Amino acid sequence: MKGGLVLHLTGVDGERIIFMYYKEIDSFPEDFLWGAASAAYQIEGAWNEDGKGPSIWDEFSKIEGKTFEGTNGEVAVDHYHRYKEDISYMKEMGLKAYRFSVAWSRVIPDGEGEINEKGLDFYENLVDELIKNGIEPVLTLYHWDMPQALQDKYGGWESREVIPAFEKYCEALFLRLRDKVKYWVTMNEQNVFTSLGYRWAAHPPAVTDLKRMYAANHVVNLANATAISLFHQLVPKGLIGPSYGYGPIYPLTADPSDVLAAENAEAFNNDWTLDVYCRGTYPKFVMKQLEHLGIAPQVTAEDSRLLTSATPDFLGINYYHGGTVQQNRIEKPENQSSTEKNFSKTDPYLMQPKEEQAMSPEVPMFNGIENPYLEKTKWGWEIDPVGFRVALRRIQSRYDLPVFVTENGLGAIDVLTEDKKIHDDYRIDYLNEHLVEMKKAIADGVEVIGYCAWSFTDLLSWLNGYKKRYGFVYVDRDEHDEKTLERIPKDSFYWYQQVIKENGENL
Ligand code: NOJ
Repeated sequence: MKGGLVLHLTGVDGERIIFMYYKEIDSFPEDFLWGAASAAYQIEGAWNEDGKGPSIWDEFSKIEGKTFEGTNGEVAVDHYHRYKEDISYMKEMGLKAYRFSVAWSRVIPDGEGEINEKGLDFYENLVDELIKNGIEPVLTLYHWDMPQALQDKYGGWESREVIPAFEKYCEALFLRLRDKVKYWVTMNEQNVFTSLGYRWAAHPPAVTDLKRMYAANHVVNLANATAISLFHQLVPKGLIGPSYGYGPIYPLTADPSDVLAAENAEAFNNDWTLDVYCRGTYPKFVMKQLEHLGIAPQVTAEDSRLLTSATPDFLGINYYHGGTVQQNRIEKPENQSSTEKNFSKTDPYLMQPKEEQAMSPEVPMFNGIENPYLEKTKWGWEIDPVGFRVALRRIQSRYDLPVFVTENGLGAIDVLTEDKKIHDDYRIDYLNEHLVEMKKAIADGVEVIGYCAWSFTDLLSWLNGYKKRYGFVYVDRDEHDEKTLERIPKDSFYWYQQVIKENGENL
């Protein structure tokens, strides 16, 4: 849409004044980074080649019953050997940016010792190939694949000992790639990997202990700030920020108690991480609850100095869906609706920390519930494009930083037709609706610098194997059979190609 007629009504002493003006909302910046994303473990394969050490995901996937039908990333979609072919599809699509992650244990096999030059070479070659094809590299430092050696030796993120190791790893990459990579992402979805790893035991290290979760989360915050601080010294021309899995929280009704419950949930879920990233402080309200229960992280004066001094240049946001809550009705189970009972407690994008709330006046402070207005994907994820606009506006108003949308996409079962086509109009609809809302958010005043759809090729879904596909490019493989690994652009590939060509003009 090119613009719109807007009627503005103002009442002054009964008089109605009508202003009409033309408002331009077709404005994606000229240099907008239209992109797509991936992560090392989910695409690379070559899990033990050229000196790479094992990561916690390499080991976790070997434990029976931990991943979907025992799937793993040993071969994944073999991007390690096929990156040039993948980049040729990116070029054909006209992609402006490509977000990928580096496997820490490819660069430093045991996480803290010798640097593996072959690992660094791989990423430098990848970056060179992207640049050669006019694609801006966006490099993620940590996308969930902690070196197993650091997990074994120190207990991974639960120990402050991993911070200097992470710093050394980051330094190796900053020095090697600082003249070639401008955009860097520190942590991917810290909220998701800490809650799935330390609360719900769905990801490694498969722990269910809140105190340990909050302790690990604090160490990740310190590692994040350490990396940002070093980056600002070594890469002054670059830009760095974390990617946070953001979902706005809604109250189920206009009942003020539900609204309060939503504020509580927003604080526990989003402010808890984003305030630390952007302001260097934990929200007092949440901290007080955790202290009462003896599960708060230990924050020293030195920690606070680091956290307040190293803030990001942009905020990366992964948007899939939000959450809906209502006031506590848990004490009256007879009033519980069936949707309440069915609500998945392990939803990574909505924490329901009942235990943390035991000391608050309301017990608990909020209950997650299905949103009656939203449809869901086959995997039970709510589809909420307007929530995307809400998310972007809330972030802008609370933190006032440029936003980089580092993930957004639809996981689905795609069907390869006999004539080798994938008609994924459901994905086109999903992405189109989200882009329309993002465009409105830009018109609202949110500074969005780029958008990376998840994902470029199909890839390994952490807990759903190769069944749940997100890519613009189909990869011919299934759970256990690598098949041909042939790449086949889906209908959505050509649709996005057009969006990029028009710089989003016709959205
Ligand atoms: C967010 C994660 O960063 C990514 O690795 C994952 O595959 C997608 N969500 C989809 O679940």
